[in-house]
Amino acid sequence: MRRKSFICRPLALVLLKIFHYSGSIAQHFAHLHASTGFVPTMGALHQGHLDLVTRARAENTHVLVSIFVNPAQFNNPEDLKKYPRTLLADLEKLRDAGAYAVYLPLPADLYPSTLAQVSLNLHPLDSAFESRFRPGHFEGVVKVLHRFFSVVQPAHAYFGLKDLQQCLVVEKLVDAFFPQINLHLCPTTREPDGLAMSSRNMRLGPEARSHAPEIYRQLQWLCRNLPLFGTNREITVQALATHGIETEYLDWVNLPDLNPAETPGGRQAILFAGYLQGVRLIDNVLINP
Ligand code: PAJ
Repeated sequence: MRRKSFICRPLALVLLKIFHYSGSIAQHFAHLHASTGFVPTMGALHQGHLDLVTRARAENTHVLVSIFVNPAQFNNPEDLKKYPRTLLADLEKLRDAGAYAVYLPLPADLYPSTLAQVSLNLHPLDSAFESRFRPGHFEGVVKVLHRFFSVVQPAHAYFGLKDLQQCLVVEKLVDAFFPQINLHLCPTTREPDGLAMSSRNMRLGPEARSHAPEIYRQLQWLCRNLPLFGTNREITVQALATHGIETEYLDWVNLPDLNPAETPGGRQAILFAGYLQGVRLIDNVLINP
């Protein structure tokens, strides 16, 4: 029995095609564009990522997943160093979820010195919320996705609404350069207690983890009482503080520009970012999605 499982594990991984070079992936997918759904990730895969793969699998014959911890989108070198890397487990999960291929780019190949800079006006998304606290982050996201989309040219691409501002940035990128790509923005996958799944959750100790679901509970409460947002916001910030959660931003905004909302109506969201035990967590709820 032991011998069998030893042989089966790596053999099964062979079923998953793995690419490292942009040239080979472009060549392989040259005839598969129309049937390809693409899911870009940075690895450390959890059920939120796998739900994107399952959705892509239901809508495409071929699902390609990239795993690349993109240095261009980290403004803090410590954060980049600490980012979890769990490649073998990721590959097993992707094989089980029915992915067709995985793209594991090599930095020098992905970003050759001759690569032209992408010129995309992100205003007003480049000055608010995540951009304010992570300067240069979305420029890095645009850089890597522009390269991926150019190389793979998928018919469909899948992103999670957990990163709402990223979704809005990707919408701009697709509108400007890749109108042929169908963009799918998929709901946030949550733990049974409501905490949005994130690779950072594994850095929470058991005590902090037990307080983390308060974020989503508070967001839902704010959402149910929107006209009182101004007053309730302070109550929420205090309530979160009693759970050890320090709010970085908590705002009610209009979509897609993320300007402050004052009255209910149209597509809106409440956005949250904060720290729990030194771990930065973000979440949001959509209103009239
Ligand atoms: P990463 O954080 O690995 O996320 C990959 C994709 O999974 C993103 O579209 C993200 O929004 C989605 N995702 C993460 N947690 C989710 C959850 N709980 N529910 C639903 N979707 C979730 O986002 C990135 O990587 C990078 O910025 C990337 C787009 C790959 C560019 O480098």
